[in-house]
Amino acid sequence: MLIWQNKNQLKHLLMRVRIFDDYDSLSQATASEVINLVKEKPHAVICLPSGSTPLGTCQWIVKNAQQQETDFSKCVFIGLDEWVGIGKENPGSCSYFFYHHFFDPLKIPEQQIFLFDAFAKNWSEECKKMDKTIAAKGGIDLMIVGIGMNGHIGFNEPGTSFRLLSHVTDLDETTKSVGQKYFPQKTHLSKGITLGLGHLMKANKAILIANGKNKAQIIHKALKEPVSEDMPASIMRKHSNGFFYVDKEAALLI
Ligand code: PGA
Repeated sequence: MLIWQNKNQLKHLLMRVRIFDDYDSLSQATASEVINLVKEKPHAVICLPSGSTPLGTCQWIVKNAQQQETDFSKCVFIGLDEWVGIGKENPGSCSYFFYHHFFDPLKIPEQQIFLFDAFAKNWSEECKKMDKTIAAKGGIDLMIVGIGMNGHIGFNEPGTSFRLLSHVTDLDETTKSVGQKYFPQKTHLSKGITLGLGHLMKANKAILIANGKNKAQIIHKALKEPVSEDMPASIMRKHSNGFFYVDKEAALLI
């Protein structure tokens, strides 16, 4: 259980933590955030993560968008990250996830999709290109992120500067081993390319989503440990419009 030194700190944080009964209601609420934003602002710039956690969100967006005929034809989608050297035909790649679960079913026009190239010849140029795109589109309206077992956001591994924008990074050992779950066979993972926490801080709204008992410990740390670059997800507490959406299982220790 958390021991809160300061009641105001607790009150402030709880306002930013929404606890849902289960994964499905968490996914539905996150999907509603995206759909409502797109209805309100058709040209919205939205950053999405890939992985196990956002799958339900994508499925709900696709379902609701089809039922309510939400028009996604003008908004812009930015992919949070990608494994370096893993192509979009590989089912473990982030691009595969985005196309398979989101862009293809929603028929998002290609010119509105901005993903990192896992095979870029010049990484610095690839990062600059993404940063310039985001700036040219007016910045990110809504940034949805997951949380890794080591507290990472995207591939912002523990120790990464909160100020960085897009960058290539060496993957943490935890990320390399946990990441195997996405791949049909053992895959060599060494580097990742990712948006930075500087992007997160500049986004108009940020939502970190987490579900399941295996995330309870890291959610506890992200909320309770001092805000520090050693615990990347703790930066969410510094965001003036940042929210934690967690299911009951992930909230077990808070
Ligand atoms: P997951 O990944 O949603 O597959 O648990 C989260 C992350 O590593 O950011």
